[in-house]
Amino acid sequence: MNRLNNSFGRLAVRFFGGCVVVSQLTLLQSVPAETVRFAGDSDLVGDNGRWTRAVAEEWAEKTNNTVEYISRPADATATLQLYLQYWGSKSADVDVFLIDVIWQGIAAPFAVDLKKFVKSDIISEFFPHSIENNTVNGRLVSMPWFIDAGLLYYRTDLLQKYGYSGPPKTWEELAEMAKKIQDGERAAGNLTFQGFVFEGKPSESLTCNAVEWIYSYGGGTIIDPDKSVTVNNPNAIKALQTAKSWAGTISPTAVSTYGEEEARNIWQSGNAAFMRNWPYAYPLGENPQSPISGKFDVTALPKGGDDGKNAACLGGWQLMISAYSKVPNASADLVRYLTSAEIQKKHAIELGLLPTLPDLYNDPDLQQKIPWFKNAPDILANTVARPSTVTGGSYNQLSQAVFENASKVLNSQESAEDAIQQIERIAKRVVP
Ligand code: GLC
Repeated sequence: MNRLNNSFGRLAVRFFGGCVVVSQLTLLQSVPAETVRFAGDSDLVGDNGRWTRAVAEEWAEKTNNTVEYISRPADATATLQLYLQYWGSKSADVDVFLIDVIWQGIAAPFAVDLKKFVKSDIISEFFPHSIENNTVNGRLVSMPWFIDAGLLYYRTDLLQKYGYSGPPKTWEELAEMAKKIQDGERAAGNLTFQGFVFEGKPSESLTCNAVEWIYSYGGGTIIDPDKSVTVNNPNAIKALQTAKSWAGTISPTAVSTYGEEEARNIWQSGNAAFMRNWPYAYPLGENPQSPISGKFDVTALPKGGDDGKNAACLGGWQLMISAYSKVPNASADLVRYLTSAEIQKKHAIELGLLPTLPDLYNDPDLQQKIPWFKNAPDILANTVARPSTVTGGSYNQLSQAVFENASKVLNSQESAEDAIQQIERIAKRVVP
């Protein structure tokens, strides 16, 4: 946190000193014209795809290169399946991939070492934790582009209407408040109103939720960084039982089919009191055309009981260059451009995504446009990483065990105890 607070001075020098701007222009002009194929953010997730495509095209125009944009699927797990096909067939059809924070071990064999393309003084401006996460066997697999963290969205107007002075501190409080608001709104005529929406579909997004529930109840992180498998404990079981109790009460039974966008659509149309989602939903909800504009805020996700902990699953997306790319230099120029302070600032202001350059957190423009950023350091202090470093190339098997079994619990097809045992069994198999 200190690092975040103390770094504005250095930012000012970099932004306003002029020399970096000059060196960047030189860099852009020195690259010969090439076509870079970029698998970027999804056209089906808020404005992310449209925005990323436009910025990549802006880069192409400035550098006389061409960019061909490929929208990734909205779903993270489906995105990985698609990428694995390119990587498995050693395809040169995509040069730059937007990859998830948890795929570094999986992607490493198919990535160029970005240390060869990005100067070390530039790399050192990024959050050290992100660089460490993206470094596998000494090779920098990807450049961090934006950070994600699970947030609790809540309707300030409805909390006030139902006599609550602030957002819930525990999941138990959330369930109570969600029920009261849901009953009240339904009685007033909105029959489809929901207390709480979240991502319950059997996919990576449910793994994120499950990691938050388990950690918030003091149930640990499934596999510890020292490789011990800790998931089979009463707190983890309690966490899954609690989530199950929401399905069909404060959450629709169909929550077990929702990804990010399904949850956001209900929330943003004004039909939910609470939502668990990522930062991208904030500016979309604040859009003047949105029915909930000016009527919501975000805070840390609740603790599991009074003795629990706040937990925000650490997410985020990175830019990697394919080892099979025939245009690595132009690709690297695009990656440097997208991860530059200038573009990250625009990204944060226009899409509400958390930058990977600590200096930007003190930027007054960002704080004015996305007011919750001023609390971001506190929320980021509660982030919980999925066990992807410790599982490396096998992370997806673990995640699949988590989301498939958590999904069965939500759908009453398996007890929480059995689900935890299944997750433990796979976890023990994948830790090397
Ligand atoms: C967000 C996160 C990513 C996570 C995904 C799950 O995009 O940034 O890390 O895996 O959601 O849907």
